[in-house]
Amino acid sequence: MSHDRLLRALRREPVDVTPVWLMRQAGRYLPEYRKLREQAGSFLDLCQNPELACEVTLQPLRRFELDGAILFSDILTIPEAMGLGLHFVPGEGPNFHHPVRTPDDIAKLTMPDMEDSLGYVPAAVRLIRRELDGKTPLIGFAGSPWTLATYMVEGGPSKTYQHIKALMYNAPEALHQLMDLLARSVAAYLNAQIAAGAQAVQIFDTWGGVLTPSAYREFSLTYMQRIVEQLEPAPDGSTVPVILFTKGGGPWLESMAATGCHALGLDWTIDIDEARERVGDRVALQGNLDPAMLYARPDVIRDNVGDVLRRFGHHPGHVFNLGHGVTPQVNPDHVAALVDAVHELSAR
Ligand code: CP3
Repeated sequence: MSHDRLLRALRREPVDVTPVWLMRQAGRYLPEYRKLREQAGSFLDLCQNPELACEVTLQPLRRFELDGAILFSDILTIPEAMGLGLHFVPGEGPNFHHPVRTPDDIAKLTMPDMEDSLGYVPAAVRLIRRELDGKTPLIGFAGSPWTLATYMVEGGPSKTYQHIKALMYNAPEALHQLMDLLARSVAAYLNAQIAAGAQAVQIFDTWGGVLTPSAYREFSLTYMQRIVEQLEPAPDGSTVPVILFTKGGGPWLESMAATGCHALGLDWTIDIDEARERVGDRVALQGNLDPAMLYARPDVIRDNVGDVLRRFGHHPGHVFNLGHGVTPQVNPDHVAALVDAVHELSAR
């Protein structure tokens, strides 16, 4: 029963082989993606057109024996819908025309209307579910409130987190007000994806790891926990598993596991056997091959896949993934080597 391997593993039920999907499994390393983006005009055009978002979501599934599909979209759709003016600068990444810098800026923000300004996302989910026809489960996602706030306050990628950290230390109440708004928006956004058919959801806390332990608890984890508590069941009444992924979150796995989430995404800076010892059977674990391993030869990739599988051992509750996303330079044949190695080496 390969179609429900991923959902079974997230529920820590026995599986025939370890399921695998990859963060950024759709994207620029695939020539068919680059071609479609060219035709569409831009990345945002792909995200906002449900037919195109559906097509891009399915592209990696045609090439590789993946056990999950992930909605093709972006975490920055929420700030975009709040009117910050998202655009992508080639070679620089995402930028906002109107960053949020002061308590006054924050006070002016409101929760986006899920139907009017973000309806293209559940529309894509419905289309993808129809195309997948029960063969592969669909994962929805959102950014964590902290990660969204870093982009909204910095105005783009940052190495120093100068603006958001100054705001956090100088005006913590204002930042809490922003986090509260984002937590409510993310919960509504994920619930719209679930109502449309997302069968699992992942919260990407890409920048949680830049916080001190106490600031992580206060500004990132608390709000992710609120989201987990507000998520609704699937239309058929079943619980939708939530995966929490904090990049750099290795030191805080125990408190992440205590939020009520079903699985933790691990980056590559912790050994998965150590992570398992620490969180026990409370949650499933997802990960955690070094994404740079895809630059190595296929035989080396295979050996290192075997190492991650051996470290996890024959327990229920492992979803194979990278420790972060596939990068644009990767050779698609190496992704095939990874996926096939997971299935061959983990067969029970
Ligand atoms: O995983 C998947 O295949 C689903 C699609 C997905 C994208 N972004 C597509 C995308 C997902 C899950 C994301 C999440 C996302 N977006 C995160 C969290 C995950 C992570 O990587 O930590 C973050 C921080 C963003 C914000 C963002 N959007 C960045 C930093 C970039 C990259 C900018 C760059 O030029 O490298 C984007 C753009 C983006 N999102 C691309 C894709 C395929 C590249 C767009 C393109 O040029 O075609």
